[in-house]
Amino acid sequence: MSEEKRMLQLRAELDDHNYRYYVLDDPVISDSEYDLLLNELQSLEEKHPDLVTSDSPTQRVGAKPSEAFGSLVHRIPMQSLANAMNNDEILAFHEQLLRRLGDQRTIEYIAEPKLDGLAVELVYEDGKLVSGSTRGDGTTGENITQNLKTIRAIPLSLRTKSAPDLLEVRGEVFMTKAGFKALNNEREESGEPLFANPRNAAAGSLRQLDPAITAARPMSIFCYQAGVINGFSFNTHKNFLAALQDWGFPVNPEIRVLSTIEEAIQFHTELEGRRNDLPYEIDGSVIKVNDYALQDELGARSRSPRWAIAGKFKAQQETTVINDIELSVGRTGAVTPVAKLDPVKVGGVIVSSVTLHNQDEIQRKDIRVGDTIIVQRAGDVIPQVVKVIREKRLPDSRAFEFSNNCPVCKHEVHQPEDEAVARCQNLSCPAQIKRRIEHFVSKNAMDIEGLGKKLISQLVETDLVKSVDDLFRLTKDQLAKLERMADKSAVNIISALEESKHTRFNRFVHALGIRNVGEHVAKVLERAFQGNLNKLMSAKHEELETINEVGPIVANTIVRFWADKQNVRIAKNCLQLGVTIEKYGATDEQIFKDKTFVFTGSLIKFSRKEAGEAVEARGGRAAGSVSLKTDYLVAGPGAGSKLQKARELDITVLTEDDFLEMIH
Ligand code: IVH
Repeated sequence: MSEEKRMLQLRAELDDHNYRYYVLDDPVISDSEYDLLLNELQSLEEKHPDLVTSDSPTQRVGAKPSEAFGSLVHRIPMQSLANAMNNDEILAFHEQLLRRLGDQRTIEYIAEPKLDGLAVELVYEDGKLVSGSTRGDGTTGENITQNLKTIRAIPLSLRTKSAPDLLEVRGEVFMTKAGFKALNNEREESGEPLFANPRNAAAGSLRQLDPAITAARPMSIFCYQAGVINGFSFNTHKNFLAALQDWGFPVNPEIRVLSTIEEAIQFHTELEGRRNDLPYEIDGSVIKVNDYALQDELGARSRSPRWAIAGKFKAQQETTVINDIELSVGRTGAVTPVAKLDPVKVGGVIVSSVTLHNQDEIQRKDIRVGDTIIVQRAGDVIPQVVKVIREKRLPDSRAFEFSNNCPVCKHEVHQPEDEAVARCQNLSCPAQIKRRIEHFVSKNAMDIEGLGKKLISQLVETDLVKSVDDLFRLTKDQLAKLERMADKSAVNIISALEESKHTRFNRFVHALGIRNVGEHVAKVLERAFQGNLNKLMSAKHEELETINEVGPIVANTIVRFWADKQNVRIAKNCLQLGVTIEKYGATDEQIFKDKTFVFTGSLIKFSRKEAGEAVEARGGRAAGSVSLKTDYLVAGPGAGSKLQKARELDITVLTEDDFLEMIH
């Protein structure tokens, strides 16, 4: 096959995989297989720059950072929606439509989740994406074409040959809750400010002047409306949405046609009940008249159509009172003010305290003890103070005095001028020690079971543990003597400590709690230093900085960490006390490259954690549930629904012994 033909074939294949992934939700290849195809296309295009097309999947991140965004005028203004705050208002909307249309008419509705993201318009000419913009003031938006092109869910060209020569599609760009969490975790590790919620994160990402930054953010889109469509017409919204899918646009699978307003209200209520289970944030439902002829007949007001209404959910916000503000000390000594609240139920969860982050935040929001405040939970996000209700401030409210001494050890607290956080300067502060140990034993670090917060607190207060290496010096008798400790638990803890000693470089390095070195960076370091801890300990700043994904800030904190003799001593003591780091590459043969395993039933010959690590060490992935992407299900005794599903999907089922044989 000629290279030119191969390029065409690769483009079609890549588009197809995107379509399967984003529109059909039924991918047939893994991300890394996708990347391989993309790489192949990229090298061919480098050889033949004259054959590169603007809609090639390689062109998603191409443009240089711009100075500012230009503006684009929407051919048809992007309207907003009238709100219904409760079921009565949804019914009132329906009755108003009946009055306009004549009471005898029946109205079929179509209801959609109201996504809490950003409305955008995509313009396709002759089947190719030519521009994209924000809603702006409804008439004019910002030209964010280059950023929108980086979102893989947005087709760069339409899938079907018969498409309008001009097509404008509107939809909502959003970030999933999981993507948002991962992004914020990364930002926390690298010391960047956190986004308050997925919507802000998506907005911030779309408005990046450098499209490469947008490309690295986990964003997606659901499309729901048309602007201009030349030469095509549809009789119902449902049919239009079906055409959108055929053209290659993601459409929300939750959308339903409903034959009465009562059914629409039921849809709305049920959706509200499930809102916290959806992978993205929604703040209501949108109920639209399905029939386009009726929509035309009803027309629009100045800013919103008459044929649709946004049914809003109850805000996941509540009012409560701040009873006290306490300072809590983290493992790096960060002293964080925490407001203690009159407990309130917000979005189904009781909230009794909320972080106020730092002194600046308290001042900015003017928060005082005794104040009545609004707290909110956005999706899975930790609760936050929205604002103080100033009208309800009582004369005895008191401003919070930030002490210059650590609330736990009374040592000096210092806040560098360029940082928002104040830190206790005493490395032996008991609060810091407790937090460091909690981190060391946590699931994604050394994963030592049985060492809960209470026990750690006891161990530190009785001076049995002063630093993490002391954990490996504990004896059964010492533990058994502690208050409320049964012999059996003491034995279990000792064996959990023993078991944890066989570990991996990345787990141990993450566990040590070097600032800015989280799970991900620890893995990067493992690869860079081939699992050799001594090399990491003696690495110079310049050497660290040459590592991809390690910048000057991270390099600096690593060097400073090891410059402290106490840290070196603690790490070496751990090794002396029996911690062994698995040889890097010992299981490096990538026999499970891109294969997905699911483990189910009770596993007898190995733990779930060991099994997962064995798979990952060989290039595979361990997942929690069976899907079309699963390659193998390893089933122990008592396997139930997962085994059944695997059989239905014709997935290879292995016993524990089969699996052991594969890895030995
Ligand atoms: S239809 C003329 N459908 O809600 C009506 N809008 O309050 C066009 N939104 O600006 C909008 N999900 O950003 C529609 N399924 C959905 C939506 C949706 C979210 C947003 C959109 C719009 C705002 C109106």
